[in-house]
Amino acid sequence: MEYQLVPMDHSHLPAVAALERLCFTTPWNEAMLEEELYNDTASFIVAQRDDGEVLGYAGLHVILDEGYIDNVAVRPEYRRQGVADRLLDVFCRFGQARLAFLTLEVRPSNTAAVALYEKHGFREAGRRKNYYENPTEDALLLTKEFKP
Ligand SMILES: CC(C)(COP(=O)(O)OP(=O)(O)OC[C@H]1O[C@@H](n2cnc3c(N)ncnc32)[C@H](O)[C@@H]1OP(=O)(O)O)[C@@H](O)C(=O)NCCC(=O)NCCS
Repeated sequence: MEYQLVPMDHSHLPAVAALERLCFTTPWNEAMLEEELYNDTASFIVAQRDDGEVLGYAGLHVILDEGYIDNVAVRPEYRRQGVADRLLDVFCRFGQARLAFLTLEVRPSNTAAVALYEKHGFREAGRRKNYYENPTEDALLLTKEFKP
């Protein structure tokens, strides 16, 4: 499958918002995603085929030397083909060069996502009680530390 990883821009907003609605019970809408285009601490990237189709996306916020991964999502019909692997690789390589650690929250029941993050070297750093709604669930706090 041929696709490029590109920075998210205005042209991607409808497709990324649709992907959010498809994947999450409390999805980010277009306005929330658009705000990130003007946020200096945010780096959002999109996996896009040459014909324009958005296959997946991922978002990162960086504060000093700390990286917080917001979302990684891939359209159901393009899953299990390494798209999330490539998206996450971008953030891990950036982290290796520039950050002390990357961190994120995930539902423990989301076995695909937990396996993805563990594959990339994230380890459990704690839990946030009843962090998620619809349905209520704890958040697993996963962190990947980078050696200086
Ligand atoms: C989690 C998600 C992003 C994975 O995307 P993907 O493009 O299918 O993942 P990849 O094909 O790159 O797989 C990378 C690794 O993730 C893990 N993985 C992905 N899907 C998996 C599944 N269904 N079951 C178990 N492990 C899985 C595996 O370790 C895999 O490595 P491998 O192929 O060497 O076994 C995708 O399932 C998704 O969009 N889910 C809904 C949104 C979501 O829950 N995002 C995470 C929120 S924190």
